[in-house]
Amino acid sequence: MSSIKHVAIIMDGNGRWAKRRFRPRIWGHVRGSSVVSEIVRSADDLGLKALTMYAFSTENWSRPLDEVSTLFRLLRKFIIKERTRILQNNIKFRVIGELQSLPHETVELINEIESLTSGATGLHLTFAFNYGGRAEILRAINTFQVTNPERLMTEADLSELMYRPETGDVDLMIRTGGEQRISNFLLWQMAYAEMYFTPTKWPDFTPREFCKIIEHVSSRERRFGSICEQVGLNSSVERADTNKSAYFQGVTFNV
Ligand code: IPE
Ligand code: IPE
Ligand code: MG
Repeated sequence: MSSIKHVAIIMDGNGRWAKRRFRPRIWGHVRGSSVVSEIVRSADDLGLKALTMYAFSTENWSRPLDEVSTLFRLLRKFIIKERTRILQNNIKFRVIGELQSLPHETVELINEIESLTSGATGLHLTFAFNYGGRAEILRAINTFQVTNPERLMTEADLSELMYRPETGDVDLMIRTGGEQRISNFLLWQMAYAEMYFTPTKWPDFTPREFCKIIEHVSSRERRFGSICEQVGLNSSVERADTNKSAYFQGVTFNV
């Protein structure tokens, strides 16, 4: 069985895709938005637990106004167009990011689909919109400091205070468009994610390439800090962090 349960995607390359065709950048976003529906369908068919799509970063506000408003419009359009299919397929739909600075009608639409799908048990489909990984971490720290002024924060505390803690860590991050960076996406949740960078621009990305990447990455060995011999063994027996002092008994460190 594949160890890839949560896939996060940086959907990049729309602007360059359009430019190469002598079209405005916005055209690339419109074409890219239809690919979103295909990849969601494919993630659902593959039986993934979660799919998180980066659709608008906190830094994307610096783009021209018509481009920003197109991206907002495409989010609304996606929700309206896909609503029936999301409900029929038992998909849990959420948006993470600073939603209070989004237009009122967009927030209403998001709230409605989130509450309609709150009891869904299928694919967790999350859109990161007006999202920034640093902002998410800072928000969590500030909330913690207000509610627990008397103690130090643990990893579990911070994980619990992410926008959607139940979605958990990312197993695989895919970035289209050829850039090899994470651009402030899910910084906390990607600590041990596998990374895959494809030169394919987002409007050209297909379910076939998506499946191939998952297949390819599933064959990589994920060690989480252990050594090869420990991987695949019962983690409660073999992981050093479950019983550190016993693990180090008899070990000689050559410095
Ligand atoms: C990604 O495509 C979409 C968003 C950032 C919203 P870009 O618009 O960044 O496309 P390129 O990277 O300029 O080609
Ligand atoms: C990342 O792409 C954000 C989204 C895909 C929404 P960008 O195109 O904004 O990232 P940079 O500017 O190349 O880092
Ligand atoms: Mg880009």
